[in-house]
Amino acid sequence: MATQTMSPSKAAIIANPVANPLGYQTFAIGSFRFERDQYFAHIHYPGNQHIMPVDAFLRALMRDVGWGFFYGTVNFDHVFGTLNHYGTVEMFIGMFNDAFRKAHRDFVENFDSPDLRKVFEAMLDDWTNEGFDPYAAPDETGLAYGRKHGSNTKALKRQRMVATRMVGLPGDLGYRTDIDGYPVNRQFTDVPQDLPEIHAAPGFEGQVHAFNMFAYVSRSDVTWNPSVVSCVHDSQFCATTEEHALPIMHGNDRVEWFIQATDEIIWDVDDKNTGAPRAKVTMKAGDVAAMPADIRHKGYSPKRSMLIVWENNDAALPRMYSRGELKPHPVEF
Ligand code: PHB
Ligand code: FE
Repeated sequence: MATQTMSPSKAAIIANPVANPLGYQTFAIGSFRFERDQYFAHIHYPGNQHIMPVDAFLRALMRDVGWGFFYGTVNFDHVFGTLNHYGTVEMFIGMFNDAFRKAHRDFVENFDSPDLRKVFEAMLDDWTNEGFDPYAAPDETGLAYGRKHGSNTKALKRQRMVATRMVGLPGDLGYRTDIDGYPVNRQFTDVPQDLPEIHAAPGFEGQVHAFNMFAYVSRSDVTWNPSVVSCVHDSQFCATTEEHALPIMHGNDRVEWFIQATDEIIWDVDDKNTGAPRAKVTMKAGDVAAMPADIRHKGYSPKRSMLIVWENNDAALPRMYSRGELKPHPVEF
């Protein structure tokens, strides 16, 4: 039977200091308990347990931690995930899975976001072995499997480079480091690295600038991790490089737009609540798509590609969509 706590569970957080025989700690919060073995993450909840390949689990966990539970739903797979209420967060089993709901096998518990974040961060750190980078494409990292060996805290704590003003203008801290410290990715060697010519009118030198965004993004060392490149009020323009599969199925709580800047991504688009398939979208370079507010999606990028994700950060939107005050799609054809 589904349990819905109205106020956040007072997080009984237990990080078992005694590691299991494979060297991994067990983590618990509320009525959930997490264990890992050589190949799998085991999620125990009242009445049953769920199992996921540990590499897929850690890749999804990295996004959930890195993005502060993101917009709307982060489905780790078709069963387990989190739903962001921006201050509190629900952790669920089968809440967005028609079969689980019909069989009354869904389970959900509400937490204060900082409490769940603390457990997720500790679990990610303890369960990530040396050589495995959950932000890297599978072809660019070692394996997650086996007994506990070492750690990779540096990769997990990676800080995004923040430009202090437009990239390339004097005083921007991000400019030289992006060129010097980050090689062009092996799959973007065809991306031209030349810089645009700038002809500022007299008196405006040092204030007018342009840079090669493709060259800039071609040096990204992570996959499926949108970074804000411009922010105007609630408009967030986020560039990202994508290779292999988006490690989560994202359930939207607002419309988001995709601009495919290079190469190709294939999207599975399913109903947000039931998981029933709704569309298959193949986006080629130059294609633009609006992802509706009532779907979940997972992308597949056979070759590393560049994607711009355009998000509306207005905090009023989830409520307006859930009340039906806004249509879930932005355009009527
Ligand atoms: C999304 O869920 O919309 C999403 C997440 C990460 C990406 C791209 C898209 O890198
Ligand atoms: Fe999304």
